[in-house]
Amino acid sequence: MSKYITTPIYYVNGEAHIGHAYTTFIADSMARYEKLKGEDTYFLTGTDEHGQKIEESAQKNGKPTQQFADEISASFKNLWDEFEIDYDKFIRTTDEDHKKGVQKAFEAMYAKGDIYKDFYEGHYCVSCETFFPETQLVDGEFCPDCGRSTNIIKEESYFFRLSKYEDALLKHYEENSDFIMPRSRANEVINFVKGGLRDLSVTRTSFTWGVKMPNSIKDDKHVMYVWLDALLNYITGLGYGKDDKNMHFWPASVQFVGKDILRFHAIYWPAFLMSLDLPLPKHIAAHGWWTRDGEKMSKSKGNVISPKQVADAYGVENLRYFMLREVPFGQDGDFSQRAFIDRINSELSNDLGNLLNRIIGMSGKYSDFEIDSVDVLKYHVKELEAMNTVLDSLDTYMQNFQTHRYLEELWRLFSIGNKAIEEHAPWVKMKENKKDEALATVALVANILAKAAIMLSPIMPRTTNTIADALHFTIDNSSYTEFVQNKKLLKLFNIKVVPPLFPRVEEPLMPEAPAAQPNAPKEIAKEDNKSLVEQDNLIEIGQFFETSLKIGVIIEAEEVEKSKKLLKLQVDLGEGKLRQIVAGIREFYTAESLLNTQVCVVANLKPAKLMGMISEGMILAAKDEDGLCLIRPQIPKKAGTPIG
Ligand code: MSP
Repeated sequence: MSKYITTPIYYVNGEAHIGHAYTTFIADSMARYEKLKGEDTYFLTGTDEHGQKIEESAQKNGKPTQQFADEISASFKNLWDEFEIDYDKFIRTTDEDHKKGVQKAFEAMYAKGDIYKDFYEGHYCVSCETFFPETQLVDGEFCPDCGRSTNIIKEESYFFRLSKYEDALLKHYEENSDFIMPRSRANEVINFVKGGLRDLSVTRTSFTWGVKMPNSIKDDKHVMYVWLDALLNYITGLGYGKDDKNMHFWPASVQFVGKDILRFHAIYWPAFLMSLDLPLPKHIAAHGWWTRDGEKMSKSKGNVISPKQVADAYGVENLRYFMLREVPFGQDGDFSQRAFIDRINSELSNDLGNLLNRIIGMSGKYSDFEIDSVDVLKYHVKELEAMNTVLDSLDTYMQNFQTHRYLEELWRLFSIGNKAIEEHAPWVKMKENKKDEALATVALVANILAKAAIMLSPIMPRTTNTIADALHFTIDNSSYTEFVQNKKLLKLFNIKVVPPLFPRVEEPLMPEAPAAQPNAPKEIAKEDNKSLVEQDNLIEIGQFFETSLKIGVIIEAEEVEKSKKLLKLQVDLGEGKLRQIVAGIREFYTAESLLNTQVCVVANLKPAKLMGMISEGMILAAKDEDGLCLIRPQIPKKAGTPIG
């Protein structure tokens, strides 16, 4: 059976960041894994270039839209090429073939009676390129997804009969419990659909930067809705609407998306496919979001991580390893240099790198870099069994996209190798004139390393090639079949000395996340001894001290159901019991990212009730048009420390 793997296509309104790199790394690793197993695999990625958002970004940058899209799209492609992402096609929604495919799909849906013309009036969020009903808006105005202000739009529009597919979608979720992965995410989608689906406006007349209507439907003032255009890339990328050349890869085996765009992929996309009489993808797999040092990344905070910068400092393969090892698939992850460095030093350098160095060293010393596996079975049945158990367990993790478990298990192989060396101490055996036994242990570990390298290759392709080079074999489907599936031992190793693969990292190689950038102070000419403060609402210092401000440590944090804005926090103020504080910061911080972080709390506020929950304090934050940030002590202080 063939495999088809996709990433979302990235908006060209800004350069790639670490979140984009993460999706691409997972998809690339999955595609490489399938290729390693000999599956006929197609891997698609690309850029999403139409819509009002891109048009506005281009204007802000003072560039013609096409030129702007060309430049950013090229920057994504160049980055993936530099990172050796093994895609089979990089699609752009401004490609002529794609546009034709979209028009063809539109015609097919129209012919089926699934598209009709009407009027739309609603609140539109340009940033999310989505309409929201009034009931979903925050404070009657703001987008429930990104918090930005929405515009009221009334325009003629073509509609897709999404409502018609409500039952079919629910049936599909029920019969295919692994359609949405991780399964824990399925409920939010199912509830959304159960809440009732409204027909979807799929064209716009308010701007022109989009795929034109098909010639057969003579209605030039409309262009296609960007999500209809974008989602269809997954089939136009296979030749739909042109030559269908690669359509035999459809349906996709897995489509990776971030959790923020799950709804589009798990509701709209399958409905479009049903309308086109095409089968649905096997899995829509939604990953979590990355924060930096516990904070949401945003341009305005100046804490967005550029994957290029990290890769230049630490190596792209180390980054791939870190991101795929650090978070369970589906959960949010935090990028901190400390955690990254720890994994490089302990797992890559110590566990893997040192083991390889030891084998290179011992093989050179004991047998002039030539070892064979003839005696391995004689002395190491126990270790071989343990090794095979680990190897057999790996596939399930990868099929469930649990790369962190896959790598964790894979690392057991290095423990088996290290333990064998400690227990069998080849250097002692050499002294006792038991060279066969000593070399059997070296060969065992060389085999462990070789097999581990094969299985690690989808995640660290370049590094594992160097390991294979040192151990004198090649990583490909035939070595996978022979040494992993058929469990054969490698015969002869002509060990080659290679430089250490993972030099230890002693201190951060990149500047830390910048502290919030204050706006440059305006120059003020100041006369000595004369206060510039001339307001009529001044207070005495005593009045200030009526407010009890304290350092608090957030011990628990959870999202408040039905609220886009509120988080419920349990905060330690050094009082022996925790205070519950309900804070309107959910649009800016995830619950997980707040755990064990410090905040400044107004501790003597009268308790209030928010959405029926008691709130016993207020957390200090600063908010401007760029967003909100919490006020925190510059260095950690004890819970309850007074501020003043
Ligand atoms: N163009 C749409 C997707 C259309 S697919 C038919 C889009 N583009 S995006 O550039 O905004 O986002 C692309 C992907 O990056 C999404 O899956 C999104 O979840 C992911 N990420 C963006 N920021 C992220 C983090 N901070 N962390 C992890 N992934 C995040 O949406």
